[in-house]
Amino acid sequence: MSTVIKGARPYGEGDPVDVLVEDGVITAIGAVDVPKDAEIVEAGGQVLLPGFVDLHTHLREPGREDTETIDSGSAAAALGGYTAVFAMANTDPVADNAVIVEHVWRRGQEVGLVDVHPVGAVTVGLKGEKLAELGTMANSQARVKVFSDDGLCVADPLLMRRALEYSTALDVVIAQHAEEPRLTVGAQAHEGERAARLGYTGWPAAAEESIVARDCLLALHANARLHVCHVSTSGTADVLRWAKDRGTQVSAEVTPHHLLLTDERLATYDPVNKVNPPLRTESDAEKLRAALAEGVIDCVATDHAPHAVQDKDTEWAAARPGMLGLQTALSIVAETMVRTGLLDWRGVARVMSERPAEIGNLADQGRPIAVGEPANLTLVDPDAEWTVRGAELASIAANTPYEGMRLPGVVTATLLRGRLTARDGKVC
Ligand code: NCD
Ligand code: ZN
Ligand code: ZN
Repeated sequence: MSTVIKGARPYGEGDPVDVLVEDGVITAIGAVDVPKDAEIVEAGGQVLLPGFVDLHTHLREPGREDTETIDSGSAAAALGGYTAVFAMANTDPVADNAVIVEHVWRRGQEVGLVDVHPVGAVTVGLKGEKLAELGTMANSQARVKVFSDDGLCVADPLLMRRALEYSTALDVVIAQHAEEPRLTVGAQAHEGERAARLGYTGWPAAAEESIVARDCLLALHANARLHVCHVSTSGTADVLRWAKDRGTQVSAEVTPHHLLLTDERLATYDPVNKVNPPLRTESDAEKLRAALAEGVIDCVATDHAPHAVQDKDTEWAAARPGMLGLQTALSIVAETMVRTGLLDWRGVARVMSERPAEIGNLADQGRPIAVGEPANLTLVDPDAEWTVRGAELASIAANTPYEGMRLPGVVTATLLRGRLTARDGKVC
């Protein structure tokens, strides 16, 4: 089986080239002799990037298949340019054992649109009381490489320390949802002027920053790898810079919504904008964009969080936090980082593919576009624009905060191990 991508610009650099893909591997770049039976993708000078890797996706299977399944979420991922996603453990039942993580892994392989790597829970049932069997999950067929209680913080410092200590022997990473729960009781929105005006209980920046600082110190002393989920405040970026300067093995992600949106959105009272951690200020968003460009924040992760209408389209306090992200991530990064000149396309490859693949320890993802490398690729039309319609997205739920917005950057093709998984807005 062979495919030729004709006239693409790897990393958006140089003159267009042809890329020949045979049996899942890039076998020639440049002027290519097109095999007779080859499938042709006309790229017309579009940008060719390594397939995107999402360290933070909620696929809701098992338990809430009314909002997303591994099938529908994989379709959204492929259409968004992703070739690998990490599916968070806060399902029902929780992915805190080998049976569940193996189910998620196998189902992902059956669907075949994107590699679905299950994240294992750090604590049994996400209860924060007792460590889950990390080793059993790491050694299972699912080969779990990332553990997280995401949705909840591993708040107990002793448990967090033990998890970090165990993680070194297993060569896995602990991904923390940094939220000191004592500081966010009843929290509804970013603690600041806007929440105060609307009478919402505030979610203070210090609830995130204090946990990140604590965990960086625990990781440094345990010589362990820590990953910080969905960084939302400029203060967290400062803590990360400090910790990295001291040699801490810490990585961090920022979501597209925290790069673009702010708590100004509260004024609409629309719970589509409710998310955890909450949308922060313009100044936070600006500093997060700078930290991502600088590498203090390593990568972009979607925190794709589908929710049913009845859980979302309700009064603010009762609405679940979370928003869709897989199909809009590239466009939001194009809008906030490329259009502003903060990143070029090589930088986009770094933050959406290479760094997340390294953090998630995936040997065949985030690889250079070069002969002999696995053909996990994404083709992006940088000049095209599209209008977001929640109902038209592949996810079962439709809770996008970008409804009706016109955004730059269209994913025109995705290849997983040489196989086209998405092309011109349709899954293959
Ligand atoms: C996530 C969810 O819905 O599972 N919600 C969210 O607002 N981000 C949980 C989480 O990522 O903390
Ligand atoms: Zn979280
Ligand atoms: Zn999450």
